[in-house]
Amino acid sequence: MFISFEGIDGSGKSTQARLLAARLEAEGHAVVLTREPGGSPGAEEIRRLVLEGDPDRWSAETEILLFTAARRDHLERTIQPALAEGKIVLCDRFADSTRMYQGISRGDLRGTVDALHSLMIGREPDLTVLIDMDPAKGLSRAKARQTAEERFEDFGLELQQKMRAGFLELAAEFAPRFAVIDGDATPDTVAEQVFAAVKARLP
Ligand code: TYD
Repeated sequence: MFISFEGIDGSGKSTQARLLAARLEAEGHAVVLTREPGGSPGAEEIRRLVLEGDPDRWSAETEILLFTAARRDHLERTIQPALAEGKIVLCDRFADSTRMYQGISRGDLRGTVDALHSLMIGREPDLTVLIDMDPAKGLSRAKARQTAEERFEDFGLELQQKMRAGFLELAAEFAPRFAVIDGDATPDTVAEQVFAAVKARLP
């Protein structure tokens, strides 16, 4: 089973992915916890190119190519081998992030994102957990982390609001694949809801 986690910056999805991995492992499942951009040595190198530096370092089109290149490598080297071994793959962000961040945020490039996705990736997660979150709270959490990877957080609150709405639209568009979880609760409460959504779909 291939499960992705999506949400705006600071939504707590990375924490939730970790909590779910621990819980599934405790239940005896073999789990691979991974992330995008990154998740394989080559894709981690691309991660540095896209997440560090000036917000205008790349055009939106170039970004789509870079994120898709990273995803292709991640899929080939990490995700597909793990799925073939019968493991549960938990991925912190996947193609829905590109549909959102590159497809919607800086002009309407969703068609370009989808075309490249079907050409080079061609697969969706079995389940996407969307941690829905008030953008003001998400942003203050993200800022508090103070890492070098600030390019996207630098876009600010207005973009985060657009993102939240955009993720909810994606959840409606791909409804059977999505579980939308309210992230504005304690981490334990959110974790319970995430686990329930996964449990309901495990074969
Ligand atoms: P990350 O460290 O995963 O932050 P977060 O914990 O908030 O998810 O940083 C990933 C950043 O990259 C995030 O701002 C979203 C952005 N991103 C894209 O713009 N497109 C993509 O396809 C992916 C996977 C991420």
